[in-house]
Amino acid sequence: MNLFIKKPIAQLMAASKETEKTLKRTLGVSSLIALGIGAIIGAGLFVRTAQAAGESAGPAVTISFIVAAAGCALAGLCYAEFASMIPIAGSAYTYSYATMGELIAWIIGWDLVLEYALGAATVAIGWSEYFNNFLDTFFHTHIPYALSHSPFQTCDLKTGMYGAEYGVHGIMNLPSVFILLLLTLLLIKGTAESAVVNNVIVIVKLSIVLLIIGFGWQFIHSEYHNPYLIPATQPDVKLSTGIIHKYSDLMNHGWLGVLRGAGVVFFAFIGFDAVSTAAQEAKNPQKDMPKGILISLVICTALYILFSHVLTGLAPFSDFLKQGKEASVTYAINHSMPGYGWLAKFVTIAILAGFSSVILVMLLGQTRVFYTMSIDGLVPRAFSELHPKFRTPYKSQMLFFVFVSLFAGFIPGDVVGDMVSIGTLFAFVLVSIGIFILRRTDPSIVRPFKTPLYYIVCPLGAIVCFAMMVGEKEDNWIRLIVWLLIGFIIYFGYSIKKSHVRHGKVELPIDPPNPEFID
Ligand code: ALA
Repeated sequence: MNLFIKKPIAQLMAASKETEKTLKRTLGVSSLIALGIGAIIGAGLFVRTAQAAGESAGPAVTISFIVAAAGCALAGLCYAEFASMIPIAGSAYTYSYATMGELIAWIIGWDLVLEYALGAATVAIGWSEYFNNFLDTFFHTHIPYALSHSPFQTCDLKTGMYGAEYGVHGIMNLPSVFILLLLTLLLIKGTAESAVVNNVIVIVKLSIVLLIIGFGWQFIHSEYHNPYLIPATQPDVKLSTGIIHKYSDLMNHGWLGVLRGAGVVFFAFIGFDAVSTAAQEAKNPQKDMPKGILISLVICTALYILFSHVLTGLAPFSDFLKQGKEASVTYAINHSMPGYGWLAKFVTIAILAGFSSVILVMLLGQTRVFYTMSIDGLVPRAFSELHPKFRTPYKSQMLFFVFVSLFAGFIPGDVVGDMVSIGTLFAFVLVSIGIFILRRTDPSIVRPFKTPLYYIVCPLGAIVCFAMMVGEKEDNWIRLIVWLLIGFIIYFGYSIKKSHVRHGKVELPIDPPNPEFID
């Protein structure tokens, strides 16, 4: 049995012709950049910067951002070549099915669930933290701790200390499930999120980042940046889960801590590949797509470095593991910027809007990937059944709502976020290696965009991304391996028998019928 059977490119092109009828080529470079930034800036910056600084990188989280950006840029070039080989809208799953064969496509598609579905869960958990902050600031009330945290978290309500043995336990994170439900219903209805709304959200997100950098700069305490790398002698901290965080552990201080931090903040770059999924709507995809990907990466990296420099200058990094962990940005502003309460309020509202758009893009990406996998027969038919009136894959959206809510409602955000990072990094490693192998084995495929110096860029992309994976915690590796094993069981138990390509069936179309969601 050929595990690497490929989906014929002609079949993909035929399917793409179908959807082309509904897709207009309207996106220029600037719209692609706006799309990229809209999908990129989210909980990674506003929640996980503080986590990375607090856990292992300290003020040197700025360097973690540089490492993560390098991995993304290298893998991003490979990704752009991959996308340009098959000039249709799609994900790494679609491209790998045509070029690297079914088993690799399955692994990548299965792995993308970690990126998109669990990515949505992570951002929803961040949303919940800022939602409580919003209620506190504007209405002097909040959702009780137990109903806004996972059962693995505790807090002493009197002292505000997390991780206290005698404190309250979380039961379920209700606000995060609420926002997921709201956005799922919106997706089922298929309401088009207009370009205007997307652009407004991008402008709001960019302005809060710029305002925090601009106003916060003068309040930086240089002593918080000194020492820049966490020393091994830093005292231990008790976490909200009750676990003692030991800075003396090898990966929790010094340069290795910076590498671990890179794996954590890598989350902040996830979504830049969303630009490539808009290939069919781009006016000049071959030239504009790589530009869109790389320019949005460069802009975000510059902003991230400046932002994290300011954030770690406003509060001692170890605070971000304790009371500053929740809604870290407003914590830092209130801690060190007297008279800027208005900025903290604005940040809270803007973050709620900004996070919602990221969750929407992630949920949409997830159902699109599973829609295609279902059309190919690799996952059950329910994932591509359309609502009779709204013409959206509503069953898939409901099923993913339940799946994503189980994580968002019951698991702490840092755990889910780490799973997203390791899963996406793994997909990038596969894409980088895949592009290298394809150059050797299939030199004749037409490649409108070619990765420059591929014999350096591809291996380096794989190495940098793999290094970030190595920096991940052991538990996280175990979770990735378990996830992949479940994937193999499903593939060999179900998908391989049902695969349409394997059984010569051709099905159209390739994309769900609301592809103009982000226009
Ligand atoms: N990059 C996105 C975020 O940080 C996923 O929320």
